[in-house]
Amino acid sequence: MTESQRLLLALVLTLIYMVWVGVLLWRHYLPKLTKKPINQGSFLIAYASQSGNARALAQQYADEKSPQHSVVVTPLSELSLRHLANTQRALFVVSTYGHGEPPDNGRAFFMKLQNAVKQTLSLQALTFDMVALGDSHYTHFCGFGEKLFQLLEQCGATAASALTRLDHAKGETGKSAVSFATGNTNTLVLEDRQQLNKMSPNPLFEIALSGHNATWEAGDILDILPANSEQDIAYWLNSHNINGDLEFDYQDQAWTAKRWLTHRQLNTPSTASSPVAILTALPLVATRSYTIASICEENSLKLIVRQHKQDNGKLGLCSGWLTHHVHCGSPIRAKIKHNPACHIPILPTPLLLIGAGSGLAGIRAQFAKFSQSTISPRPTSIWLIFGERSPNNDDVLEQVIDVNHAATAIRVDKVFSRCPKQPRYVQDKLMQSAEEIKNLVLKGGQIYVCGSYEGMGEGVHQALLDILGEAQVQHLIDQQRYHRDTY
Ligand SMILES: Cc1cc2nc3c(=O)[nH]c(=O)nc-3n(C[C@H](O)[C@H](O)[C@H](O)COP(=O)(O)O)c2cc1C
Repeated sequence: MTESQRLLLALVLTLIYMVWVGVLLWRHYLPKLTKKPINQGSFLIAYASQSGNARALAQQYADEKSPQHSVVVTPLSELSLRHLANTQRALFVVSTYGHGEPPDNGRAFFMKLQNAVKQTLSLQALTFDMVALGDSHYTHFCGFGEKLFQLLEQCGATAASALTRLDHAKGETGKSAVSFATGNTNTLVLEDRQQLNKMSPNPLFEIALSGHNATWEAGDILDILPANSEQDIAYWLNSHNINGDLEFDYQDQAWTAKRWLTHRQLNTPSTASSPVAILTALPLVATRSYTIASICEENSLKLIVRQHKQDNGKLGLCSGWLTHHVHCGSPIRAKIKHNPACHIPILPTPLLLIGAGSGLAGIRAQFAKFSQSTISPRPTSIWLIFGERSPNNDDVLEQVIDVNHAATAIRVDKVFSRCPKQPRYVQDKLMQSAEEIKNLVLKGGQIYVCGSYEGMGEGVHQALLDILGEAQVQHLIDQQRYHRDTY
């Protein structure tokens, strides 16, 4: 073959590849930019959810309603104002994220509604109810639900009932709480627990659980019903002068005081007089969410858990239980929560995985998914930016991820905030790599972030706003190319 024939062949092959990538991207992103038509006569259940709670609750309401009504369930990101204006009955199930802000799949809709109010949009045909999910530890408790409720009323919609607020801090998770109370959950078993950073004052553990028929995808979350330690239960019984062997019936089930207290909030003050009334007034403990660190094909559900110490020196309820109190072989009551916002689509484009601390869990799961030999099409490259505290004590990445074993081009940047020579956070690394980030986005790349919202999640978001601008970041959110699992 002559030189010019070789050149021509290379050109033709490149063209074919570009067309193939173009078709894949077009097929993937076009549906996200065009809203599906929604049957106007249906009962609309619209949700906005960052980590899946509001979505799961919306689905439960839909399952309950669907025998009598034609029901449409949709995220707010798929709902147009035109459809809403022609809808007569709707239920909104929305959580709050950030500092009183909408979740990512409610943000664009909320901005459109805010603008529409100024342009006198009429929602007079609409009667709605709203369930707002939030957590009263936050300053703006159910802040997004409140704002959305007001905006809908300003547009002329009629509220059929007052805003219902569900407080995660009080264990109020709507219908899904019922299944924990009645035991309708996955019972997993603790198989193994290893501290990854043996010399660190901030212990980080890898925890392996097993469970029959448990299935999940990278990006999913495990909601765990934590248990009180035996010492805390004994202390509570003693201080309330109640015998742990006291037997009683509650909702047709036989209990002993000790067993009942396993999953109850022990610090709840009570005015009840009889021991049974005091016991049954205690609410169920609030569930804790952990990003699953493995993929189903590994046959082990792994978590990466930071052991938290409270100001009084005691270990955090769930992290203390998982990393210290619970014995191997013990059952763990938990539910796998599907989190489609973090099911990263498989596309032949670059993938940037960003995480810090226990956010390593999400990175590990995504990496396991994208480095599987059978995956197709492959990301053109995987870039991993991981942050921890001390390079001496917390350099744990390679213990949980085999970065040399990926079938695609891989780049790893590790940064340490307590590095004496060069202290840096992941957001600093992003700012330093601004041109490469722009390039990655230009090539259709996707970004996944996992770890604490305060500090890391906010810092990464601000860095992306600084590098790409607000419109581009919103565009990434709308196209579901920016996946946030920050907690
Ligand atoms: C990063 C982050 C920020 C949050 N900010 C608020 C807030 O400002 N106000 C509030 O009431 N709840 C806040 N929450 C609590 C969530 O709304 C609550 O956990 C809810 O159940 C999450 O539902 P979702 O999984 O549908 O997003 C926040 C949760 C996270 C993880």
